[in-house]
Amino acid sequence: MDHDIIVLGLESSCDDTAAAVVRGHEILSSVVADQTDLHAAYGGVVPEIAARAHAEKLDLCIENALQAAGTNLSEIDAIAVTAGPGLIGGVLSGVMMAKGLSAGTGKPLIGVNHLAGHALTPRLTDRLAYPYLILLVSGGHCQFLQVNGPTDFSRLGSTIDDAPGEAFDKTARLLGLSQPGGPSVEKSATLGDETRFAFPRPLLDRPGCDLSFSGLKTALLRQRDQLVTSQGGLRRADVNHLCAGFQAAVRDVLVEKSRRALDACNGITGFAVAGGVAANTQLRTALETLANAQDIPFVAPPLSLCTDNAAMIAFAGAEKFLADGADDLTLSARPRWPLDKRAPAALGSGKKGAKA
Ligand code: KG4
Ligand code: ZN
Repeated sequence: MDHDIIVLGLESSCDDTAAAVVRGHEILSSVVADQTDLHAAYGGVVPEIAARAHAEKLDLCIENALQAAGTNLSEIDAIAVTAGPGLIGGVLSGVMMAKGLSAGTGKPLIGVNHLAGHALTPRLTDRLAYPYLILLVSGGHCQFLQVNGPTDFSRLGSTIDDAPGEAFDKTARLLGLSQPGGPSVEKSATLGDETRFAFPRPLLDRPGCDLSFSGLKTALLRQRDQLVTSQGGLRRADVNHLCAGFQAAVRDVLVEKSRRALDACNGITGFAVAGGVAANTQLRTALETLANAQDIPFVAPPLSLCTDNAAMIAFAGAEKFLADGADDLTLSARPRWPLDKRAPAALGSGKKGAKA
């Protein structure tokens, strides 16, 4: 759908406070204030700390986003906000702010599903036409979705326990590497031999596209403890081999399940990947190779649009608004909000926010 309405987007569902202004497919500004430092001492996102920081930072982010876009509230056509799923305190901060702005300016209010924001990003960046397949892989999400329209999604499979980003973060913690774990595990893995230690490939023995990552963390813990017991400690090379083995297992599982998801889709225009874990070069390359082998266009948005941001919320808000109209001030914040209303609830629930 081509349009050039100007939307202010707000995002506060996990640990990034973000505001952005988007006109059609053009991102006029995108401001992200991350909270990594606030949560660093706790080994995960603390919901109460996150909510307070969102409440403190949202107005500043909005001001900065409007200024960077060279616009002001009176020139905005609509206000889009993440209304779920996520940590409820943070989602509430955003929804209340958006309601205030909407009531004060008279501009339409649009409640956006955070996952729809990720799932529609390939349209923002590459104008991918419906329907397409997307793999969302982040610290809080892991699912295959066939995207049929701005509010029409079919879920083909999802994690039944942890999200892959959580597993990367836990792996880094177990091996004494820095957080966030993905980049540090990836860096270490480049120096390792992925065949040195055996890792399972969870759920490949079962049909379908569901995934599981908690067993990989346990496998890593066992290998680490065995090495510590037998040699009295971990050598740098062991850490590299463990990272390489772990990353290869995640890659293999995601590639095989993607193959099955692609087989299950009909008439799709492309295969896209989004979420922080999509930053992983080995994974991206393996997924691209799979898509190329099947002659299906592959879309991997730039990293700044793969991770949490408000431009995706503004864009998804515009698509939803043009298709279904606006919400009203009864819009509620939803900790859980499955995109596919027909699919049974996913079993998984991760530390970085509610699953859907
Ligand atoms: O999408 P995101 O920014 O936040 C949400 O979880 O919603 O994803 C963050 C996750 C973290 O768990 C981080 O370790 C992981 O993405 N990540 C990576 C890489 N870069 C970030 N995982 C694997 N390889 C990477 N290069
Ligand atoms: Zn996200």
